[in-house]
Amino acid sequence: MTSVALVTGAAGGIGRAIAQRLADAGHVVVGGDLAPPASETDGPHEGIVDVHLDVTDDDSIAAALTTATELGELRTVVNCAAVLSAARTPNLTDSQLDHQIDVNLAGTIRVCRAVTDRLGSGGSIVNIGSISATLGGAPGVGVYAATKAGIEGFTRALACELGPRGARANVVSPGFVDAPMAGLLRSDPDTEARIVASVPLRRLGRPDEIAEVVEFLASERASYVSGATVRVDGGRVAS
Ligand SMILES: NC(=O)c1ccc[n+]([C@@H]2O[C@H](COP(=O)([O-])OP(=O)(O)OC[C@H]3O[C@@H](n4cnc5c(N)ncnc54)[C@H](O)[C@@H]3O)[C@@H](O)[C@H]2O)c1
Repeated sequence: MTSVALVTGAAGGIGRAIAQRLADAGHVVVGGDLAPPASETDGPHEGIVDVHLDVTDDDSIAAALTTATELGELRTVVNCAAVLSAARTPNLTDSQLDHQIDVNLAGTIRVCRAVTDRLGSGGSIVNIGSISATLGGAPGVGVYAATKAGIEGFTRALACELGPRGARANVVSPGFVDAPMAGLLRSDPDTEARIVASVPLRRLGRPDEIAEVVEFLASERASYVSGATVRVDGGRVAS
């Protein structure tokens, strides 16, 4: 039976690379996002079915799952949708607080809630975290960091629920990646140079380097990996 993967945030920089990598590995990918793919190069790709998806809306999640199950057997789910709204804590508005929690953490949990009972043996969930869950250094990203730390805790608990039926859940935690969400931290050349200098590999990551690890964790090559957070950060957290 056709193996189907659902990827949220699939029009974004890293999400698109993940969708393309999973499609290249033979999955039919349902790529869900609020927005359509950004550019011609990120546009229609063989093996990817783009759908409108809002991870804050259960009906929208259910519609994406209907598409997925019509295409084959749902075996892989990647939660990559997220927003980042930087504000120092005293300046944080209610809307910045609520929206980041609603999309990043609650959105990931909503999608997992909807798919968990559909994943059988060999099923795999990969939630996208961030090294901000571990590092506190970037100004104004407290809520975003909290949502990513929450994803790690949730995913460990989910791995315990899924394990007895042979399904797995893991987190991939990117460092600084040449993709839109790093934009806020790259506001000027000095900041970018400082960020690059802080990374042992002395460069930003590429979206395809994140996608490669996601595809590995989704595959049977990672059949005994569950409840893990795998950092793909050029050594940043180690430094
Ligand atoms: N770029 C980085 O340096 C970096 C570092 C660590 C973690 N990450 C994580 O990687 C992921 C992708 O980041 P990116 O840099 O590609 O950013 P991006 O903004 O290109 O991707 C995020 C995508 O999520 C979508 N989205 C937002 N709200 C949504 C909603 N309610 N429903 C469905 N989709 C929604 C956006 O439309 C966008 O396409 C995110 O989870 C981010 O937290 C990125």
